[in-house]
Amino acid sequence: MLNIRNYQDIDFSGVQMLMNRSNEFDSFSWPLLREKLYGDPDWNPSRTWIAELDDQIVGFMLGVTRNIRGTNYGYIKLMGVEPSVRRKKIATQLFSTLESQFIQEGMNIFRIYDVPLNYYMPGIDPRYTPAICFAQKMGFTHFGDSVNMQVDLNDRDWEVSPQLEQLKKEDISIYRATVEDKPELFGFISTEWALWQNELEMAYRSKPVSIHIARYKGKIKAFSAYDGNNQGTGWFGPMGTHPDLRGKGIGTLLLYLCLNDIKKQGLKTATIPWVAPISFYSHYANAKIDRVFWRFEKKLTNV
Ligand SMILES: CC(C)(COP(=O)(O)OP(=O)(O)OC[C@H]1O[C@@H](n2cnc3c(N)ncnc32)[C@H](O)[C@@H]1OP(=O)(O)O)[C@@H](O)C(=O)NCCC(=O)NCCS
Repeated sequence: MLNIRNYQDIDFSGVQMLMNRSNEFDSFSWPLLREKLYGDPDWNPSRTWIAELDDQIVGFMLGVTRNIRGTNYGYIKLMGVEPSVRRKKIATQLFSTLESQFIQEGMNIFRIYDVPLNYYMPGIDPRYTPAICFAQKMGFTHFGDSVNMQVDLNDRDWEVSPQLEQLKKEDISIYRATVEDKPELFGFISTEWALWQNELEMAYRSKPVSIHIARYKGKIKAFSAYDGNNQGTGWFGPMGTHPDLRGKGIGTLLLYLCLNDIKKQGLKTATIPWVAPISFYSHYANAKIDRVFWRFEKKLTNV
C-alpha cells in the first residue's frame, strides 16, 4: 500500500539512492544532494514528500518556494520515481499533495526545477521524456528554454596575471574577494542582481572564497564567482560588470580567474549554467552548449 508522507532526516540515503537510480542523466553525490535539500534558503521538510511502498522509498518530490518581486512561486526542485513502479500514479500523488499545499500557502505560479537561488538544473532536460509528458499531464505549459554550456578546462591556459598587472595602471585592481569586501559587494548587487545573494553567500563559505572582484578607482564594479550552487561540480557564476567598466575585457579576466581556480580543483570541465550571453562564453572560453532544458509553468492564481 502506497504511503505519502513528509521527508525525515533518516530518509536521506534512501532518497539519494532513489535519485541516482531514477535520474539516468545525472548523478547525486552525498554533498550535492545535501546542498539541494539542507542548503536551500527555503529548506522545509514539510514541503518535501516521500512515497513509500512496503517500507521502501519509491518516490521523492522536493518542493520549495520563493517570493520574487512580489510574486509567490512554488517549485518542484527535484523529483524521481523508482523505475520499476512507474506509470502507477506515484508522481501524480506526490504532485497533488504538493500542489494542494502550494495553493493553501498562496503560491501564484508553479514551476519545475528552474529555482532561483539554489537549483539543480534550470528546467527539465527533455531527454527525460516521461518528465515532459508528466508536466504536460499535470497542466503545465512549456514557456521557454534554458541552456548550460560546458568549458573544456584543458583547452587553454587561463592564466591572466600579466593582464592584471597592466590594469593597475588604469586604477583597476582585480583580486580574490575577502570578508572585508563582503558588505560592499552585497551592496553592489543589491539593486539589479539581488537574486544572486544566496550564491555569493555560498561562494563566501568556500575555502578559498570562490569570488573574484574588480575595483575601479577603489570601488567594486565587477565580480565573478563559482561554487555558489552545485558545489564541487565546477559550477560557474554568477558574474556581473557595472556599465562603467564594460568593454574593457574585465568580464573575461574575471571569468578566466574562476576557470583557472576550477581547473586547479582537478576538474576537467566547468559548467556555465542558465546562460543568457551564449556568444560571450562561446567566443572567450570556447564554451559549447551542453544541455538544453525546457521550462514549465502552471498558474495557480490569476496573477
Ligand atoms: C517523471 C516521473 C517522476 C513520473 O513518475 P510516475 O510515477 O511514473 O508518473 P505517473 O504514473 O504519476 O504519471 C502521470 C502521467 O504522466 C505522464 N507520463 C508519465 N510517464 C510517462 C511516460 N513514460 N510516457 C508518457 N507519459 C508519461 C502520463 O500522462 C501519466 O498519466 P497516465 O499514466 O494516466 O497516462 C518518472 O518518470 C521519473 O522518475 N523520471 C525520471 C526522473 C525525472 O525525469 N526527473 C526530472 C528530471 S529533469
